[in-house]
Amino acid sequence: MARKIAILSGKGGVGKSTVAANLGFALAKKCKRVLLADMDFGLNSLDILLKCDNQVTFDLNDVIQNRCRFRQALINDKKIPNLYIILSGTYKPTDAAVFVDMIKKEEQNFDYILFDCSAGVNKSLIAPLSVSDESLIVVTPHFVSVKDAQKAVIYAKTFNLLQVYVAVNRIRGDLVRLGEQMSAFEVFSLINAKPLGVVPENDELNGFIRTDSSYFDVMADNLLNGKQMLYDYLSEYKGIFGKIKSKIKRNA
Ligand SMILES: Nc1ncnc2c1ncn2[C@@H]1O[C@H](COP(=O)(O)OP(=O)(O)O)[C@@H](O)[C@H]1O
Ligand SMILES: [Mg+2]
Repeated sequence: MARKIAILSGKGGVGKSTVAANLGFALAKKCKRVLLADMDFGLNSLDILLKCDNQVTFDLNDVIQNRCRFRQALINDKKIPNLYIILSGTYKPTDAAVFVDMIKKEEQNFDYILFDCSAGVNKSLIAPLSVSDESLIVVTPHFVSVKDAQKAVIYAKTFNLLQVYVAVNRIRGDLVRLGEQMSAFEVFSLINAKPLGVVPENDELNGFIRTDSSYFDVMADNLLNGKQMLYDYLSEYKGIFGKIKSKIKRNA
């Protein structure tokens, strides 16, 4: 049976799809069979993030409408073995039971299923949260994002989940050192969920997935081994060279 994780946020644009794609890739690198299910109805982006939009023929909508089998709607980038993607298309599971049944039938083929959910705390989360074992809330170190993440945690906890995790995305070590941004520790202390990871603001993450991202290797390791190691996003800003780097970044 797959470990099923619903990735949500509250606030939009905080990096759910980026985290889902990179975490999925990190787990696939560790020889796990991973399915990334893009549940952002009508706004799917995982095919673009993973550069396989040219392979899309069918989506979940076609599966539900009996136009194809589940397998035919799976996209697999040959460069990333073990990593499969399925897009919701415009499919909005008003009937969570149909969706839950479908996932239950297919889950034996995977070790992990990550549901990349839509933003907000609304009915569209019912289906993915009903079938998930765990949930991961993505948050940025900004008050609005933290407030929305708190609401997402409360909502997620109304479902029958084993664990609710939180990951801080887009943190800037230079600003944290200057006291101009909340630290990851402060964000974690405001959110009632288990810390799973920290991802710095990184231009290389803007757009497509990075294939050698240690932040996500740490996160995948935490998931696999029940650890709570956190990426040291402040290390590159320590010492004299760190101060210079910080200055350059500020003036960029
Ligand atoms: N850690 C990061 N560093 C830099 N850019 C990021 C980071 N995380 C996400 N982004 C960028 O922010 C934008 C929104 O991210 P996305 O994953 O689509 O958010 P969501 O799925 O929550 O709407 C995208 O352009 C993405 O490339
Ligand atoms: Mg998204």
